[in-house]
Amino acid sequence: MTTELLQDKPAQATPRKVFLKTYGCQMNVYDSQRMGDALASEGYVQTETVEDADLVLLNTCHIREKAAEKVYSELGRLRKLKQEKSEAGRELLIGVAGCVAQAEGKEIIRRAPVVDLVIGPQTYHRLPRALEQARRGIKIVETEYAIEDKFEHLPVPDKKAVRARGVTAFLTVQEGCDKFCTFCVVPYTRGSEISRSVKQIVAEATRLAEGGVREITLLGQNVNAWHGEGIDGRSWGLGELLFRLAEIPGIARLRYTTSHPRDMDDALIAAHRDLDVLMPYLHLPVQSGSDRILKAMNRKHSHDDYLRLIERIRNARSDIAISGDFIVGFPGETDGDFEETMRIVREVGYAQAFSFKYSQRPGTPGAELGAQIAEDIKDERLQRLQALLVEQQQDFTHSMIGREIELLIEKPGRQAGQKVGRSPWLQPVIVDEKLGDIGEMTRVRISGAGFNSLFGEAI
Ligand code: 5AD
Ligand code: SF4
Repeated sequence: MTTELLQDKPAQATPRKVFLKTYGCQMNVYDSQRMGDALASEGYVQTETVEDADLVLLNTCHIREKAAEKVYSELGRLRKLKQEKSEAGRELLIGVAGCVAQAEGKEIIRRAPVVDLVIGPQTYHRLPRALEQARRGIKIVETEYAIEDKFEHLPVPDKKAVRARGVTAFLTVQEGCDKFCTFCVVPYTRGSEISRSVKQIVAEATRLAEGGVREITLLGQNVNAWHGEGIDGRSWGLGELLFRLAEIPGIARLRYTTSHPRDMDDALIAAHRDLDVLMPYLHLPVQSGSDRILKAMNRKHSHDDYLRLIERIRNARSDIAISGDFIVGFPGETDGDFEETMRIVREVGYAQAFSFKYSQRPGTPGAELGAQIAEDIKDERLQRLQALLVEQQQDFTHSMIGREIELLIEKPGRQAGQKVGRSPWLQPVIVDEKLGDIGEMTRVRISGAGFNSLFGEAI
């Protein structure tokens, strides 16, 4: 027992190495950073080379079938690596974290016995202990949690770690979802809605700013459902929280994602009108333009409700760019329903969008519906929708040419002599490196556009 414990401590000549691979959304990116931080305090360093690793952690996504299946192909490759390592007398632990871990639990180990550890997103604070057990050869499945557990155990990140990650950062303020859209696994994988406290959020944002972060993106599956007790003792929503965060010295830009139309309240819309540091960009998924499908999806709003909401937001902030998510081929979707989706896209005019073929997810009400749509119809609808969305996105990109805009310089460019900044509308802008240091705000004139990025020059 004692010798085993000694072996488990990180005081060894070469530190253990972890290879972290992240799939899916920004919250997984954030969670991977937190897991990296937790592992660093256990003596692990991160490696970019899977062959060097003593531990491989896959932080997985369960949103669509394709995303979930990717994990199993990766595990197939890792099985070979683990075998080679073991023949060379070296240990390789394999862990599956994230939403596939939460949704499938021990089924993962049954299907892929190479896995040593399965850990769901609400139990990452138990990672060090779980690893210790895994190293003793015990297969671990950690998916049970008490709802209030998650945020209580999140440490404020270390200033050095923050600095190493650059001038933009994610900050989770809310997790989970109570909306139960009938296509979506999130209410099951990420659990019911929970908001982090103002105190914790302000502490983390302050640490980020001290570490050189200039732009923070607040994250939540339903971020605009965030609510909490404010510093003034009143009940706050996301709008009030944004005003508080804007006071932190060093914070030049705030963003938030992802929002539900039902939770865009007056205070949040007012924040878009009154708060300069809140960027004029809003990801507000509508999923479908057909009232019949919206109802079957349990979205709890109509085509017109969404249009009216966009109008109120644009009245508050006329230059706001709207981004969206769309699903084609939800069960029962007719040609007429799909045309309603095309119509809402034309009516709104999206700066950016993500569109998907409906994927039947186990355990969701949508999967039980009859009238599932044939694959070739989904393909054809997706192509038409994407053609329209790309056209709108290109129009938006090209409308920037000739304008003077403010950039946050984020990183060196791919080519020597260049730096890359970001516009208020999330577009990467390539500029001469002399135009500013990383972390600085600068004004440039947009001189040209590529497919996704813009080119800027001195004014
Ligand atoms: N099939 C296809 N797309 C889905 N999404 C969520 N669930 C599904 C599903 N079952 C999409 C939605 C959501 C985005 C994150 O993923 O558009 O907004
Ligand atoms: Fe999924 Fe709907 Fe919740 Fe978004 S609002 S996470 S789509 S259930």
